[in-house]
Amino acid sequence: MMIEPLDFSKYRSIVALTGAGISVASGLRPFRGPGGLWNEVDVLAYATAEALKQDPFKVWRFFASLRQQLKYAEPNAAHYALAKLESHMENHQNFTLITQNVDGLHQRAMSKNVIEMHGNLKRIRCQYKKCRLKPYEDDHFSLESLPTCNLCGSPLRFDIVLFGEHIQMDIQREIKKSLRSCNLFMAIGTSREVYPAAGFVRVARSYGAKTIAINVEPIESATSDFHEVYLGKAEEVLPEFLNQTLHSSGSQVAA
Ligand code: OAD
Ligand code: ZN
Repeated sequence: MMIEPLDFSKYRSIVALTGAGISVASGLRPFRGPGGLWNEVDVLAYATAEALKQDPFKVWRFFASLRQQLKYAEPNAAHYALAKLESHMENHQNFTLITQNVDGLHQRAMSKNVIEMHGNLKRIRCQYKKCRLKPYEDDHFSLESLPTCNLCGSPLRFDIVLFGEHIQMDIQREIKKSLRSCNLFMAIGTSREVYPAAGFVRVARSYGAKTIAINVEPIESATSDFHEVYLGKAEEVLPEFLNQTLHSSGSQVAA
């Protein structure tokens, strides 16, 4: 696929929004589209606030098995390309990576300014909202039984945002701020099925940003919201994008 170079140095503030598609090349399944988890598994039974209330162990076991798969996943070329882009920002530029993913692969690829709007599976917390137990990282979690909180005895859960739950206010504020000030917005590997993330492009565009989508399949409605849509795999399109661009703008690029 031929990609028109994009001169990133022209943009003072860049926001990239990523979804499950960016981690497919790392061996993780997306939720929708080809091979999507929700094509086989009923999302309502596993990934909602209601499911957690009805059957916390079922929800625990489901996400524990996803978390288990993360042990074998490594960041791919798309994650690294975004980290490289961030490292090439000049002093007057800023870069914000908003991810819906809970896999932590952006940080492992050395991205710095990452907003994990749906949380991260590496953390566990108490289900009881008023409990004083702070979310903590634990590699030794059980798939066989539902662990309980040492402080209050409530069941524990993964520190992610389920359907029907709210995104933390401070994270919402941070996202709004970055969308209002950005002049380049890129959505990568996301189906645009889930709000609020699906609406970010319109916010960014209404504040004057150029908007770009990269996805392996065409997304209905994308054509009206994005100035440019690149059809292809994130792990192929992004590195090519950056190489052409960083070369064409004359920057020195470390391989
Ligand atoms: P989805 O699984 O809904 O969408 C992934 C998109 O990436 C689909 O449109 C795929 O076609 C596309 N895709 C697949 N492979 C790709 C590749 N190699 N390169 C580029 N694109 C590719 O994922 P999200 O939009 O992230 O919630 O889903 C949003 C939320 O719904 C998730 O955060 C998750 C889910 O339920 C939580 O985990 C809380
Ligand atoms: Zn507790």
